[in-house]
Amino acid sequence: MRHLIDILELSVEELDSLIATAMDIINNPEKYAHKCDGKKLATLFFEPSTRTRLSFEAAMYELGGNVLTMADAGSSSAAKGESVADTAKMISCYADIIAMRHPKEGAPLVAANNASIPVINAGDGGHHHPTQTLADLLTIYREKGGFNDLTIGLCGDLKFGRTVHSLISAMSRYKNIKFVLISPDELRVPDYVINKIVDSGHKFVQLQSLEEAMPQIDILYMTRVQRERFFNEEEYLRLKDSYILDIDKLKTAKSDLVIMHPLPRVNEISVAVDNDSRACYFTQALNGKYMRMALILKLLGIE
Ligand code: NCD
Repeated sequence: MRHLIDILELSVEELDSLIATAMDIINNPEKYAHKCDGKKLATLFFEPSTRTRLSFEAAMYELGGNVLTMADAGSSSAAKGESVADTAKMISCYADIIAMRHPKEGAPLVAANNASIPVINAGDGGHHHPTQTLADLLTIYREKGGFNDLTIGLCGDLKFGRTVHSLISAMSRYKNIKFVLISPDELRVPDYVINKIVDSGHKFVQLQSLEEAMPQIDILYMTRVQRERFFNEEEYLRLKDSYILDIDKLKTAKSDLVIMHPLPRVNEISVAVDNDSRACYFTQALNGKYMRMALILKLLGIE
């Protein structure tokens, strides 16, 4: 039985195969409409979510399956003090696969160690978010045709942004990648993630200026400052508008730049940018549904 807790649990070949399945789903949705007949996905979300939970649920419905949802931890037995381990054992009696989001780093791993069905990490604290990376990879694949020879700018809250950590891990395995890490000093990429870049032999720079980075990058991955992870509201208020991408800042960008954002956006991208042909963040959210469909099939062992 396989889980997905960290994106690196999937080999590059397995990612290629998930992308191939997602592309086939896009082109031939009817082939997949009954693949999960009789199967149930449980979505256990102990933190707010719109895209991740609903795209998981839409994915399961489009595969013909059903969904058991727990969107509000306050209404579950977690509020009575039930452990993640016990919850995972219980849900294993009711569902065939679990997608779990939790504010504590490592909680989905604890669930996986106690469940008798596959567990998917749908975001654990400021740690990882592997299925967002699946959405990101399909977006890069559809826009750039592959993953090698790219300069990737990641901008914003690179410290607490779990999507950033998972994407850097995944991209570090490809060839000739340069990472341009754009953040205030306080929100730099944690050392354990930097080490993955170093170990893979790729180049990286850490900058504070988005303007300085703009001309050289092929992909710009904007992120929200993660208010819920700050210990100090004043610090959040000081840093929250560090970067705002607007039309003016795009003047020096490449004509085939791919602008991405895991969403939700707060202020990081001006709405005027949405009409720029380089803005890919809404398709990125759609791509998440296709990749989650492919992942559900894989983890349930359905051809
Ligand atoms: C992200 C997350 O939850 O980490 N959202 C998402 O799943 N698309 C990014 C964020 O909340 O800023």
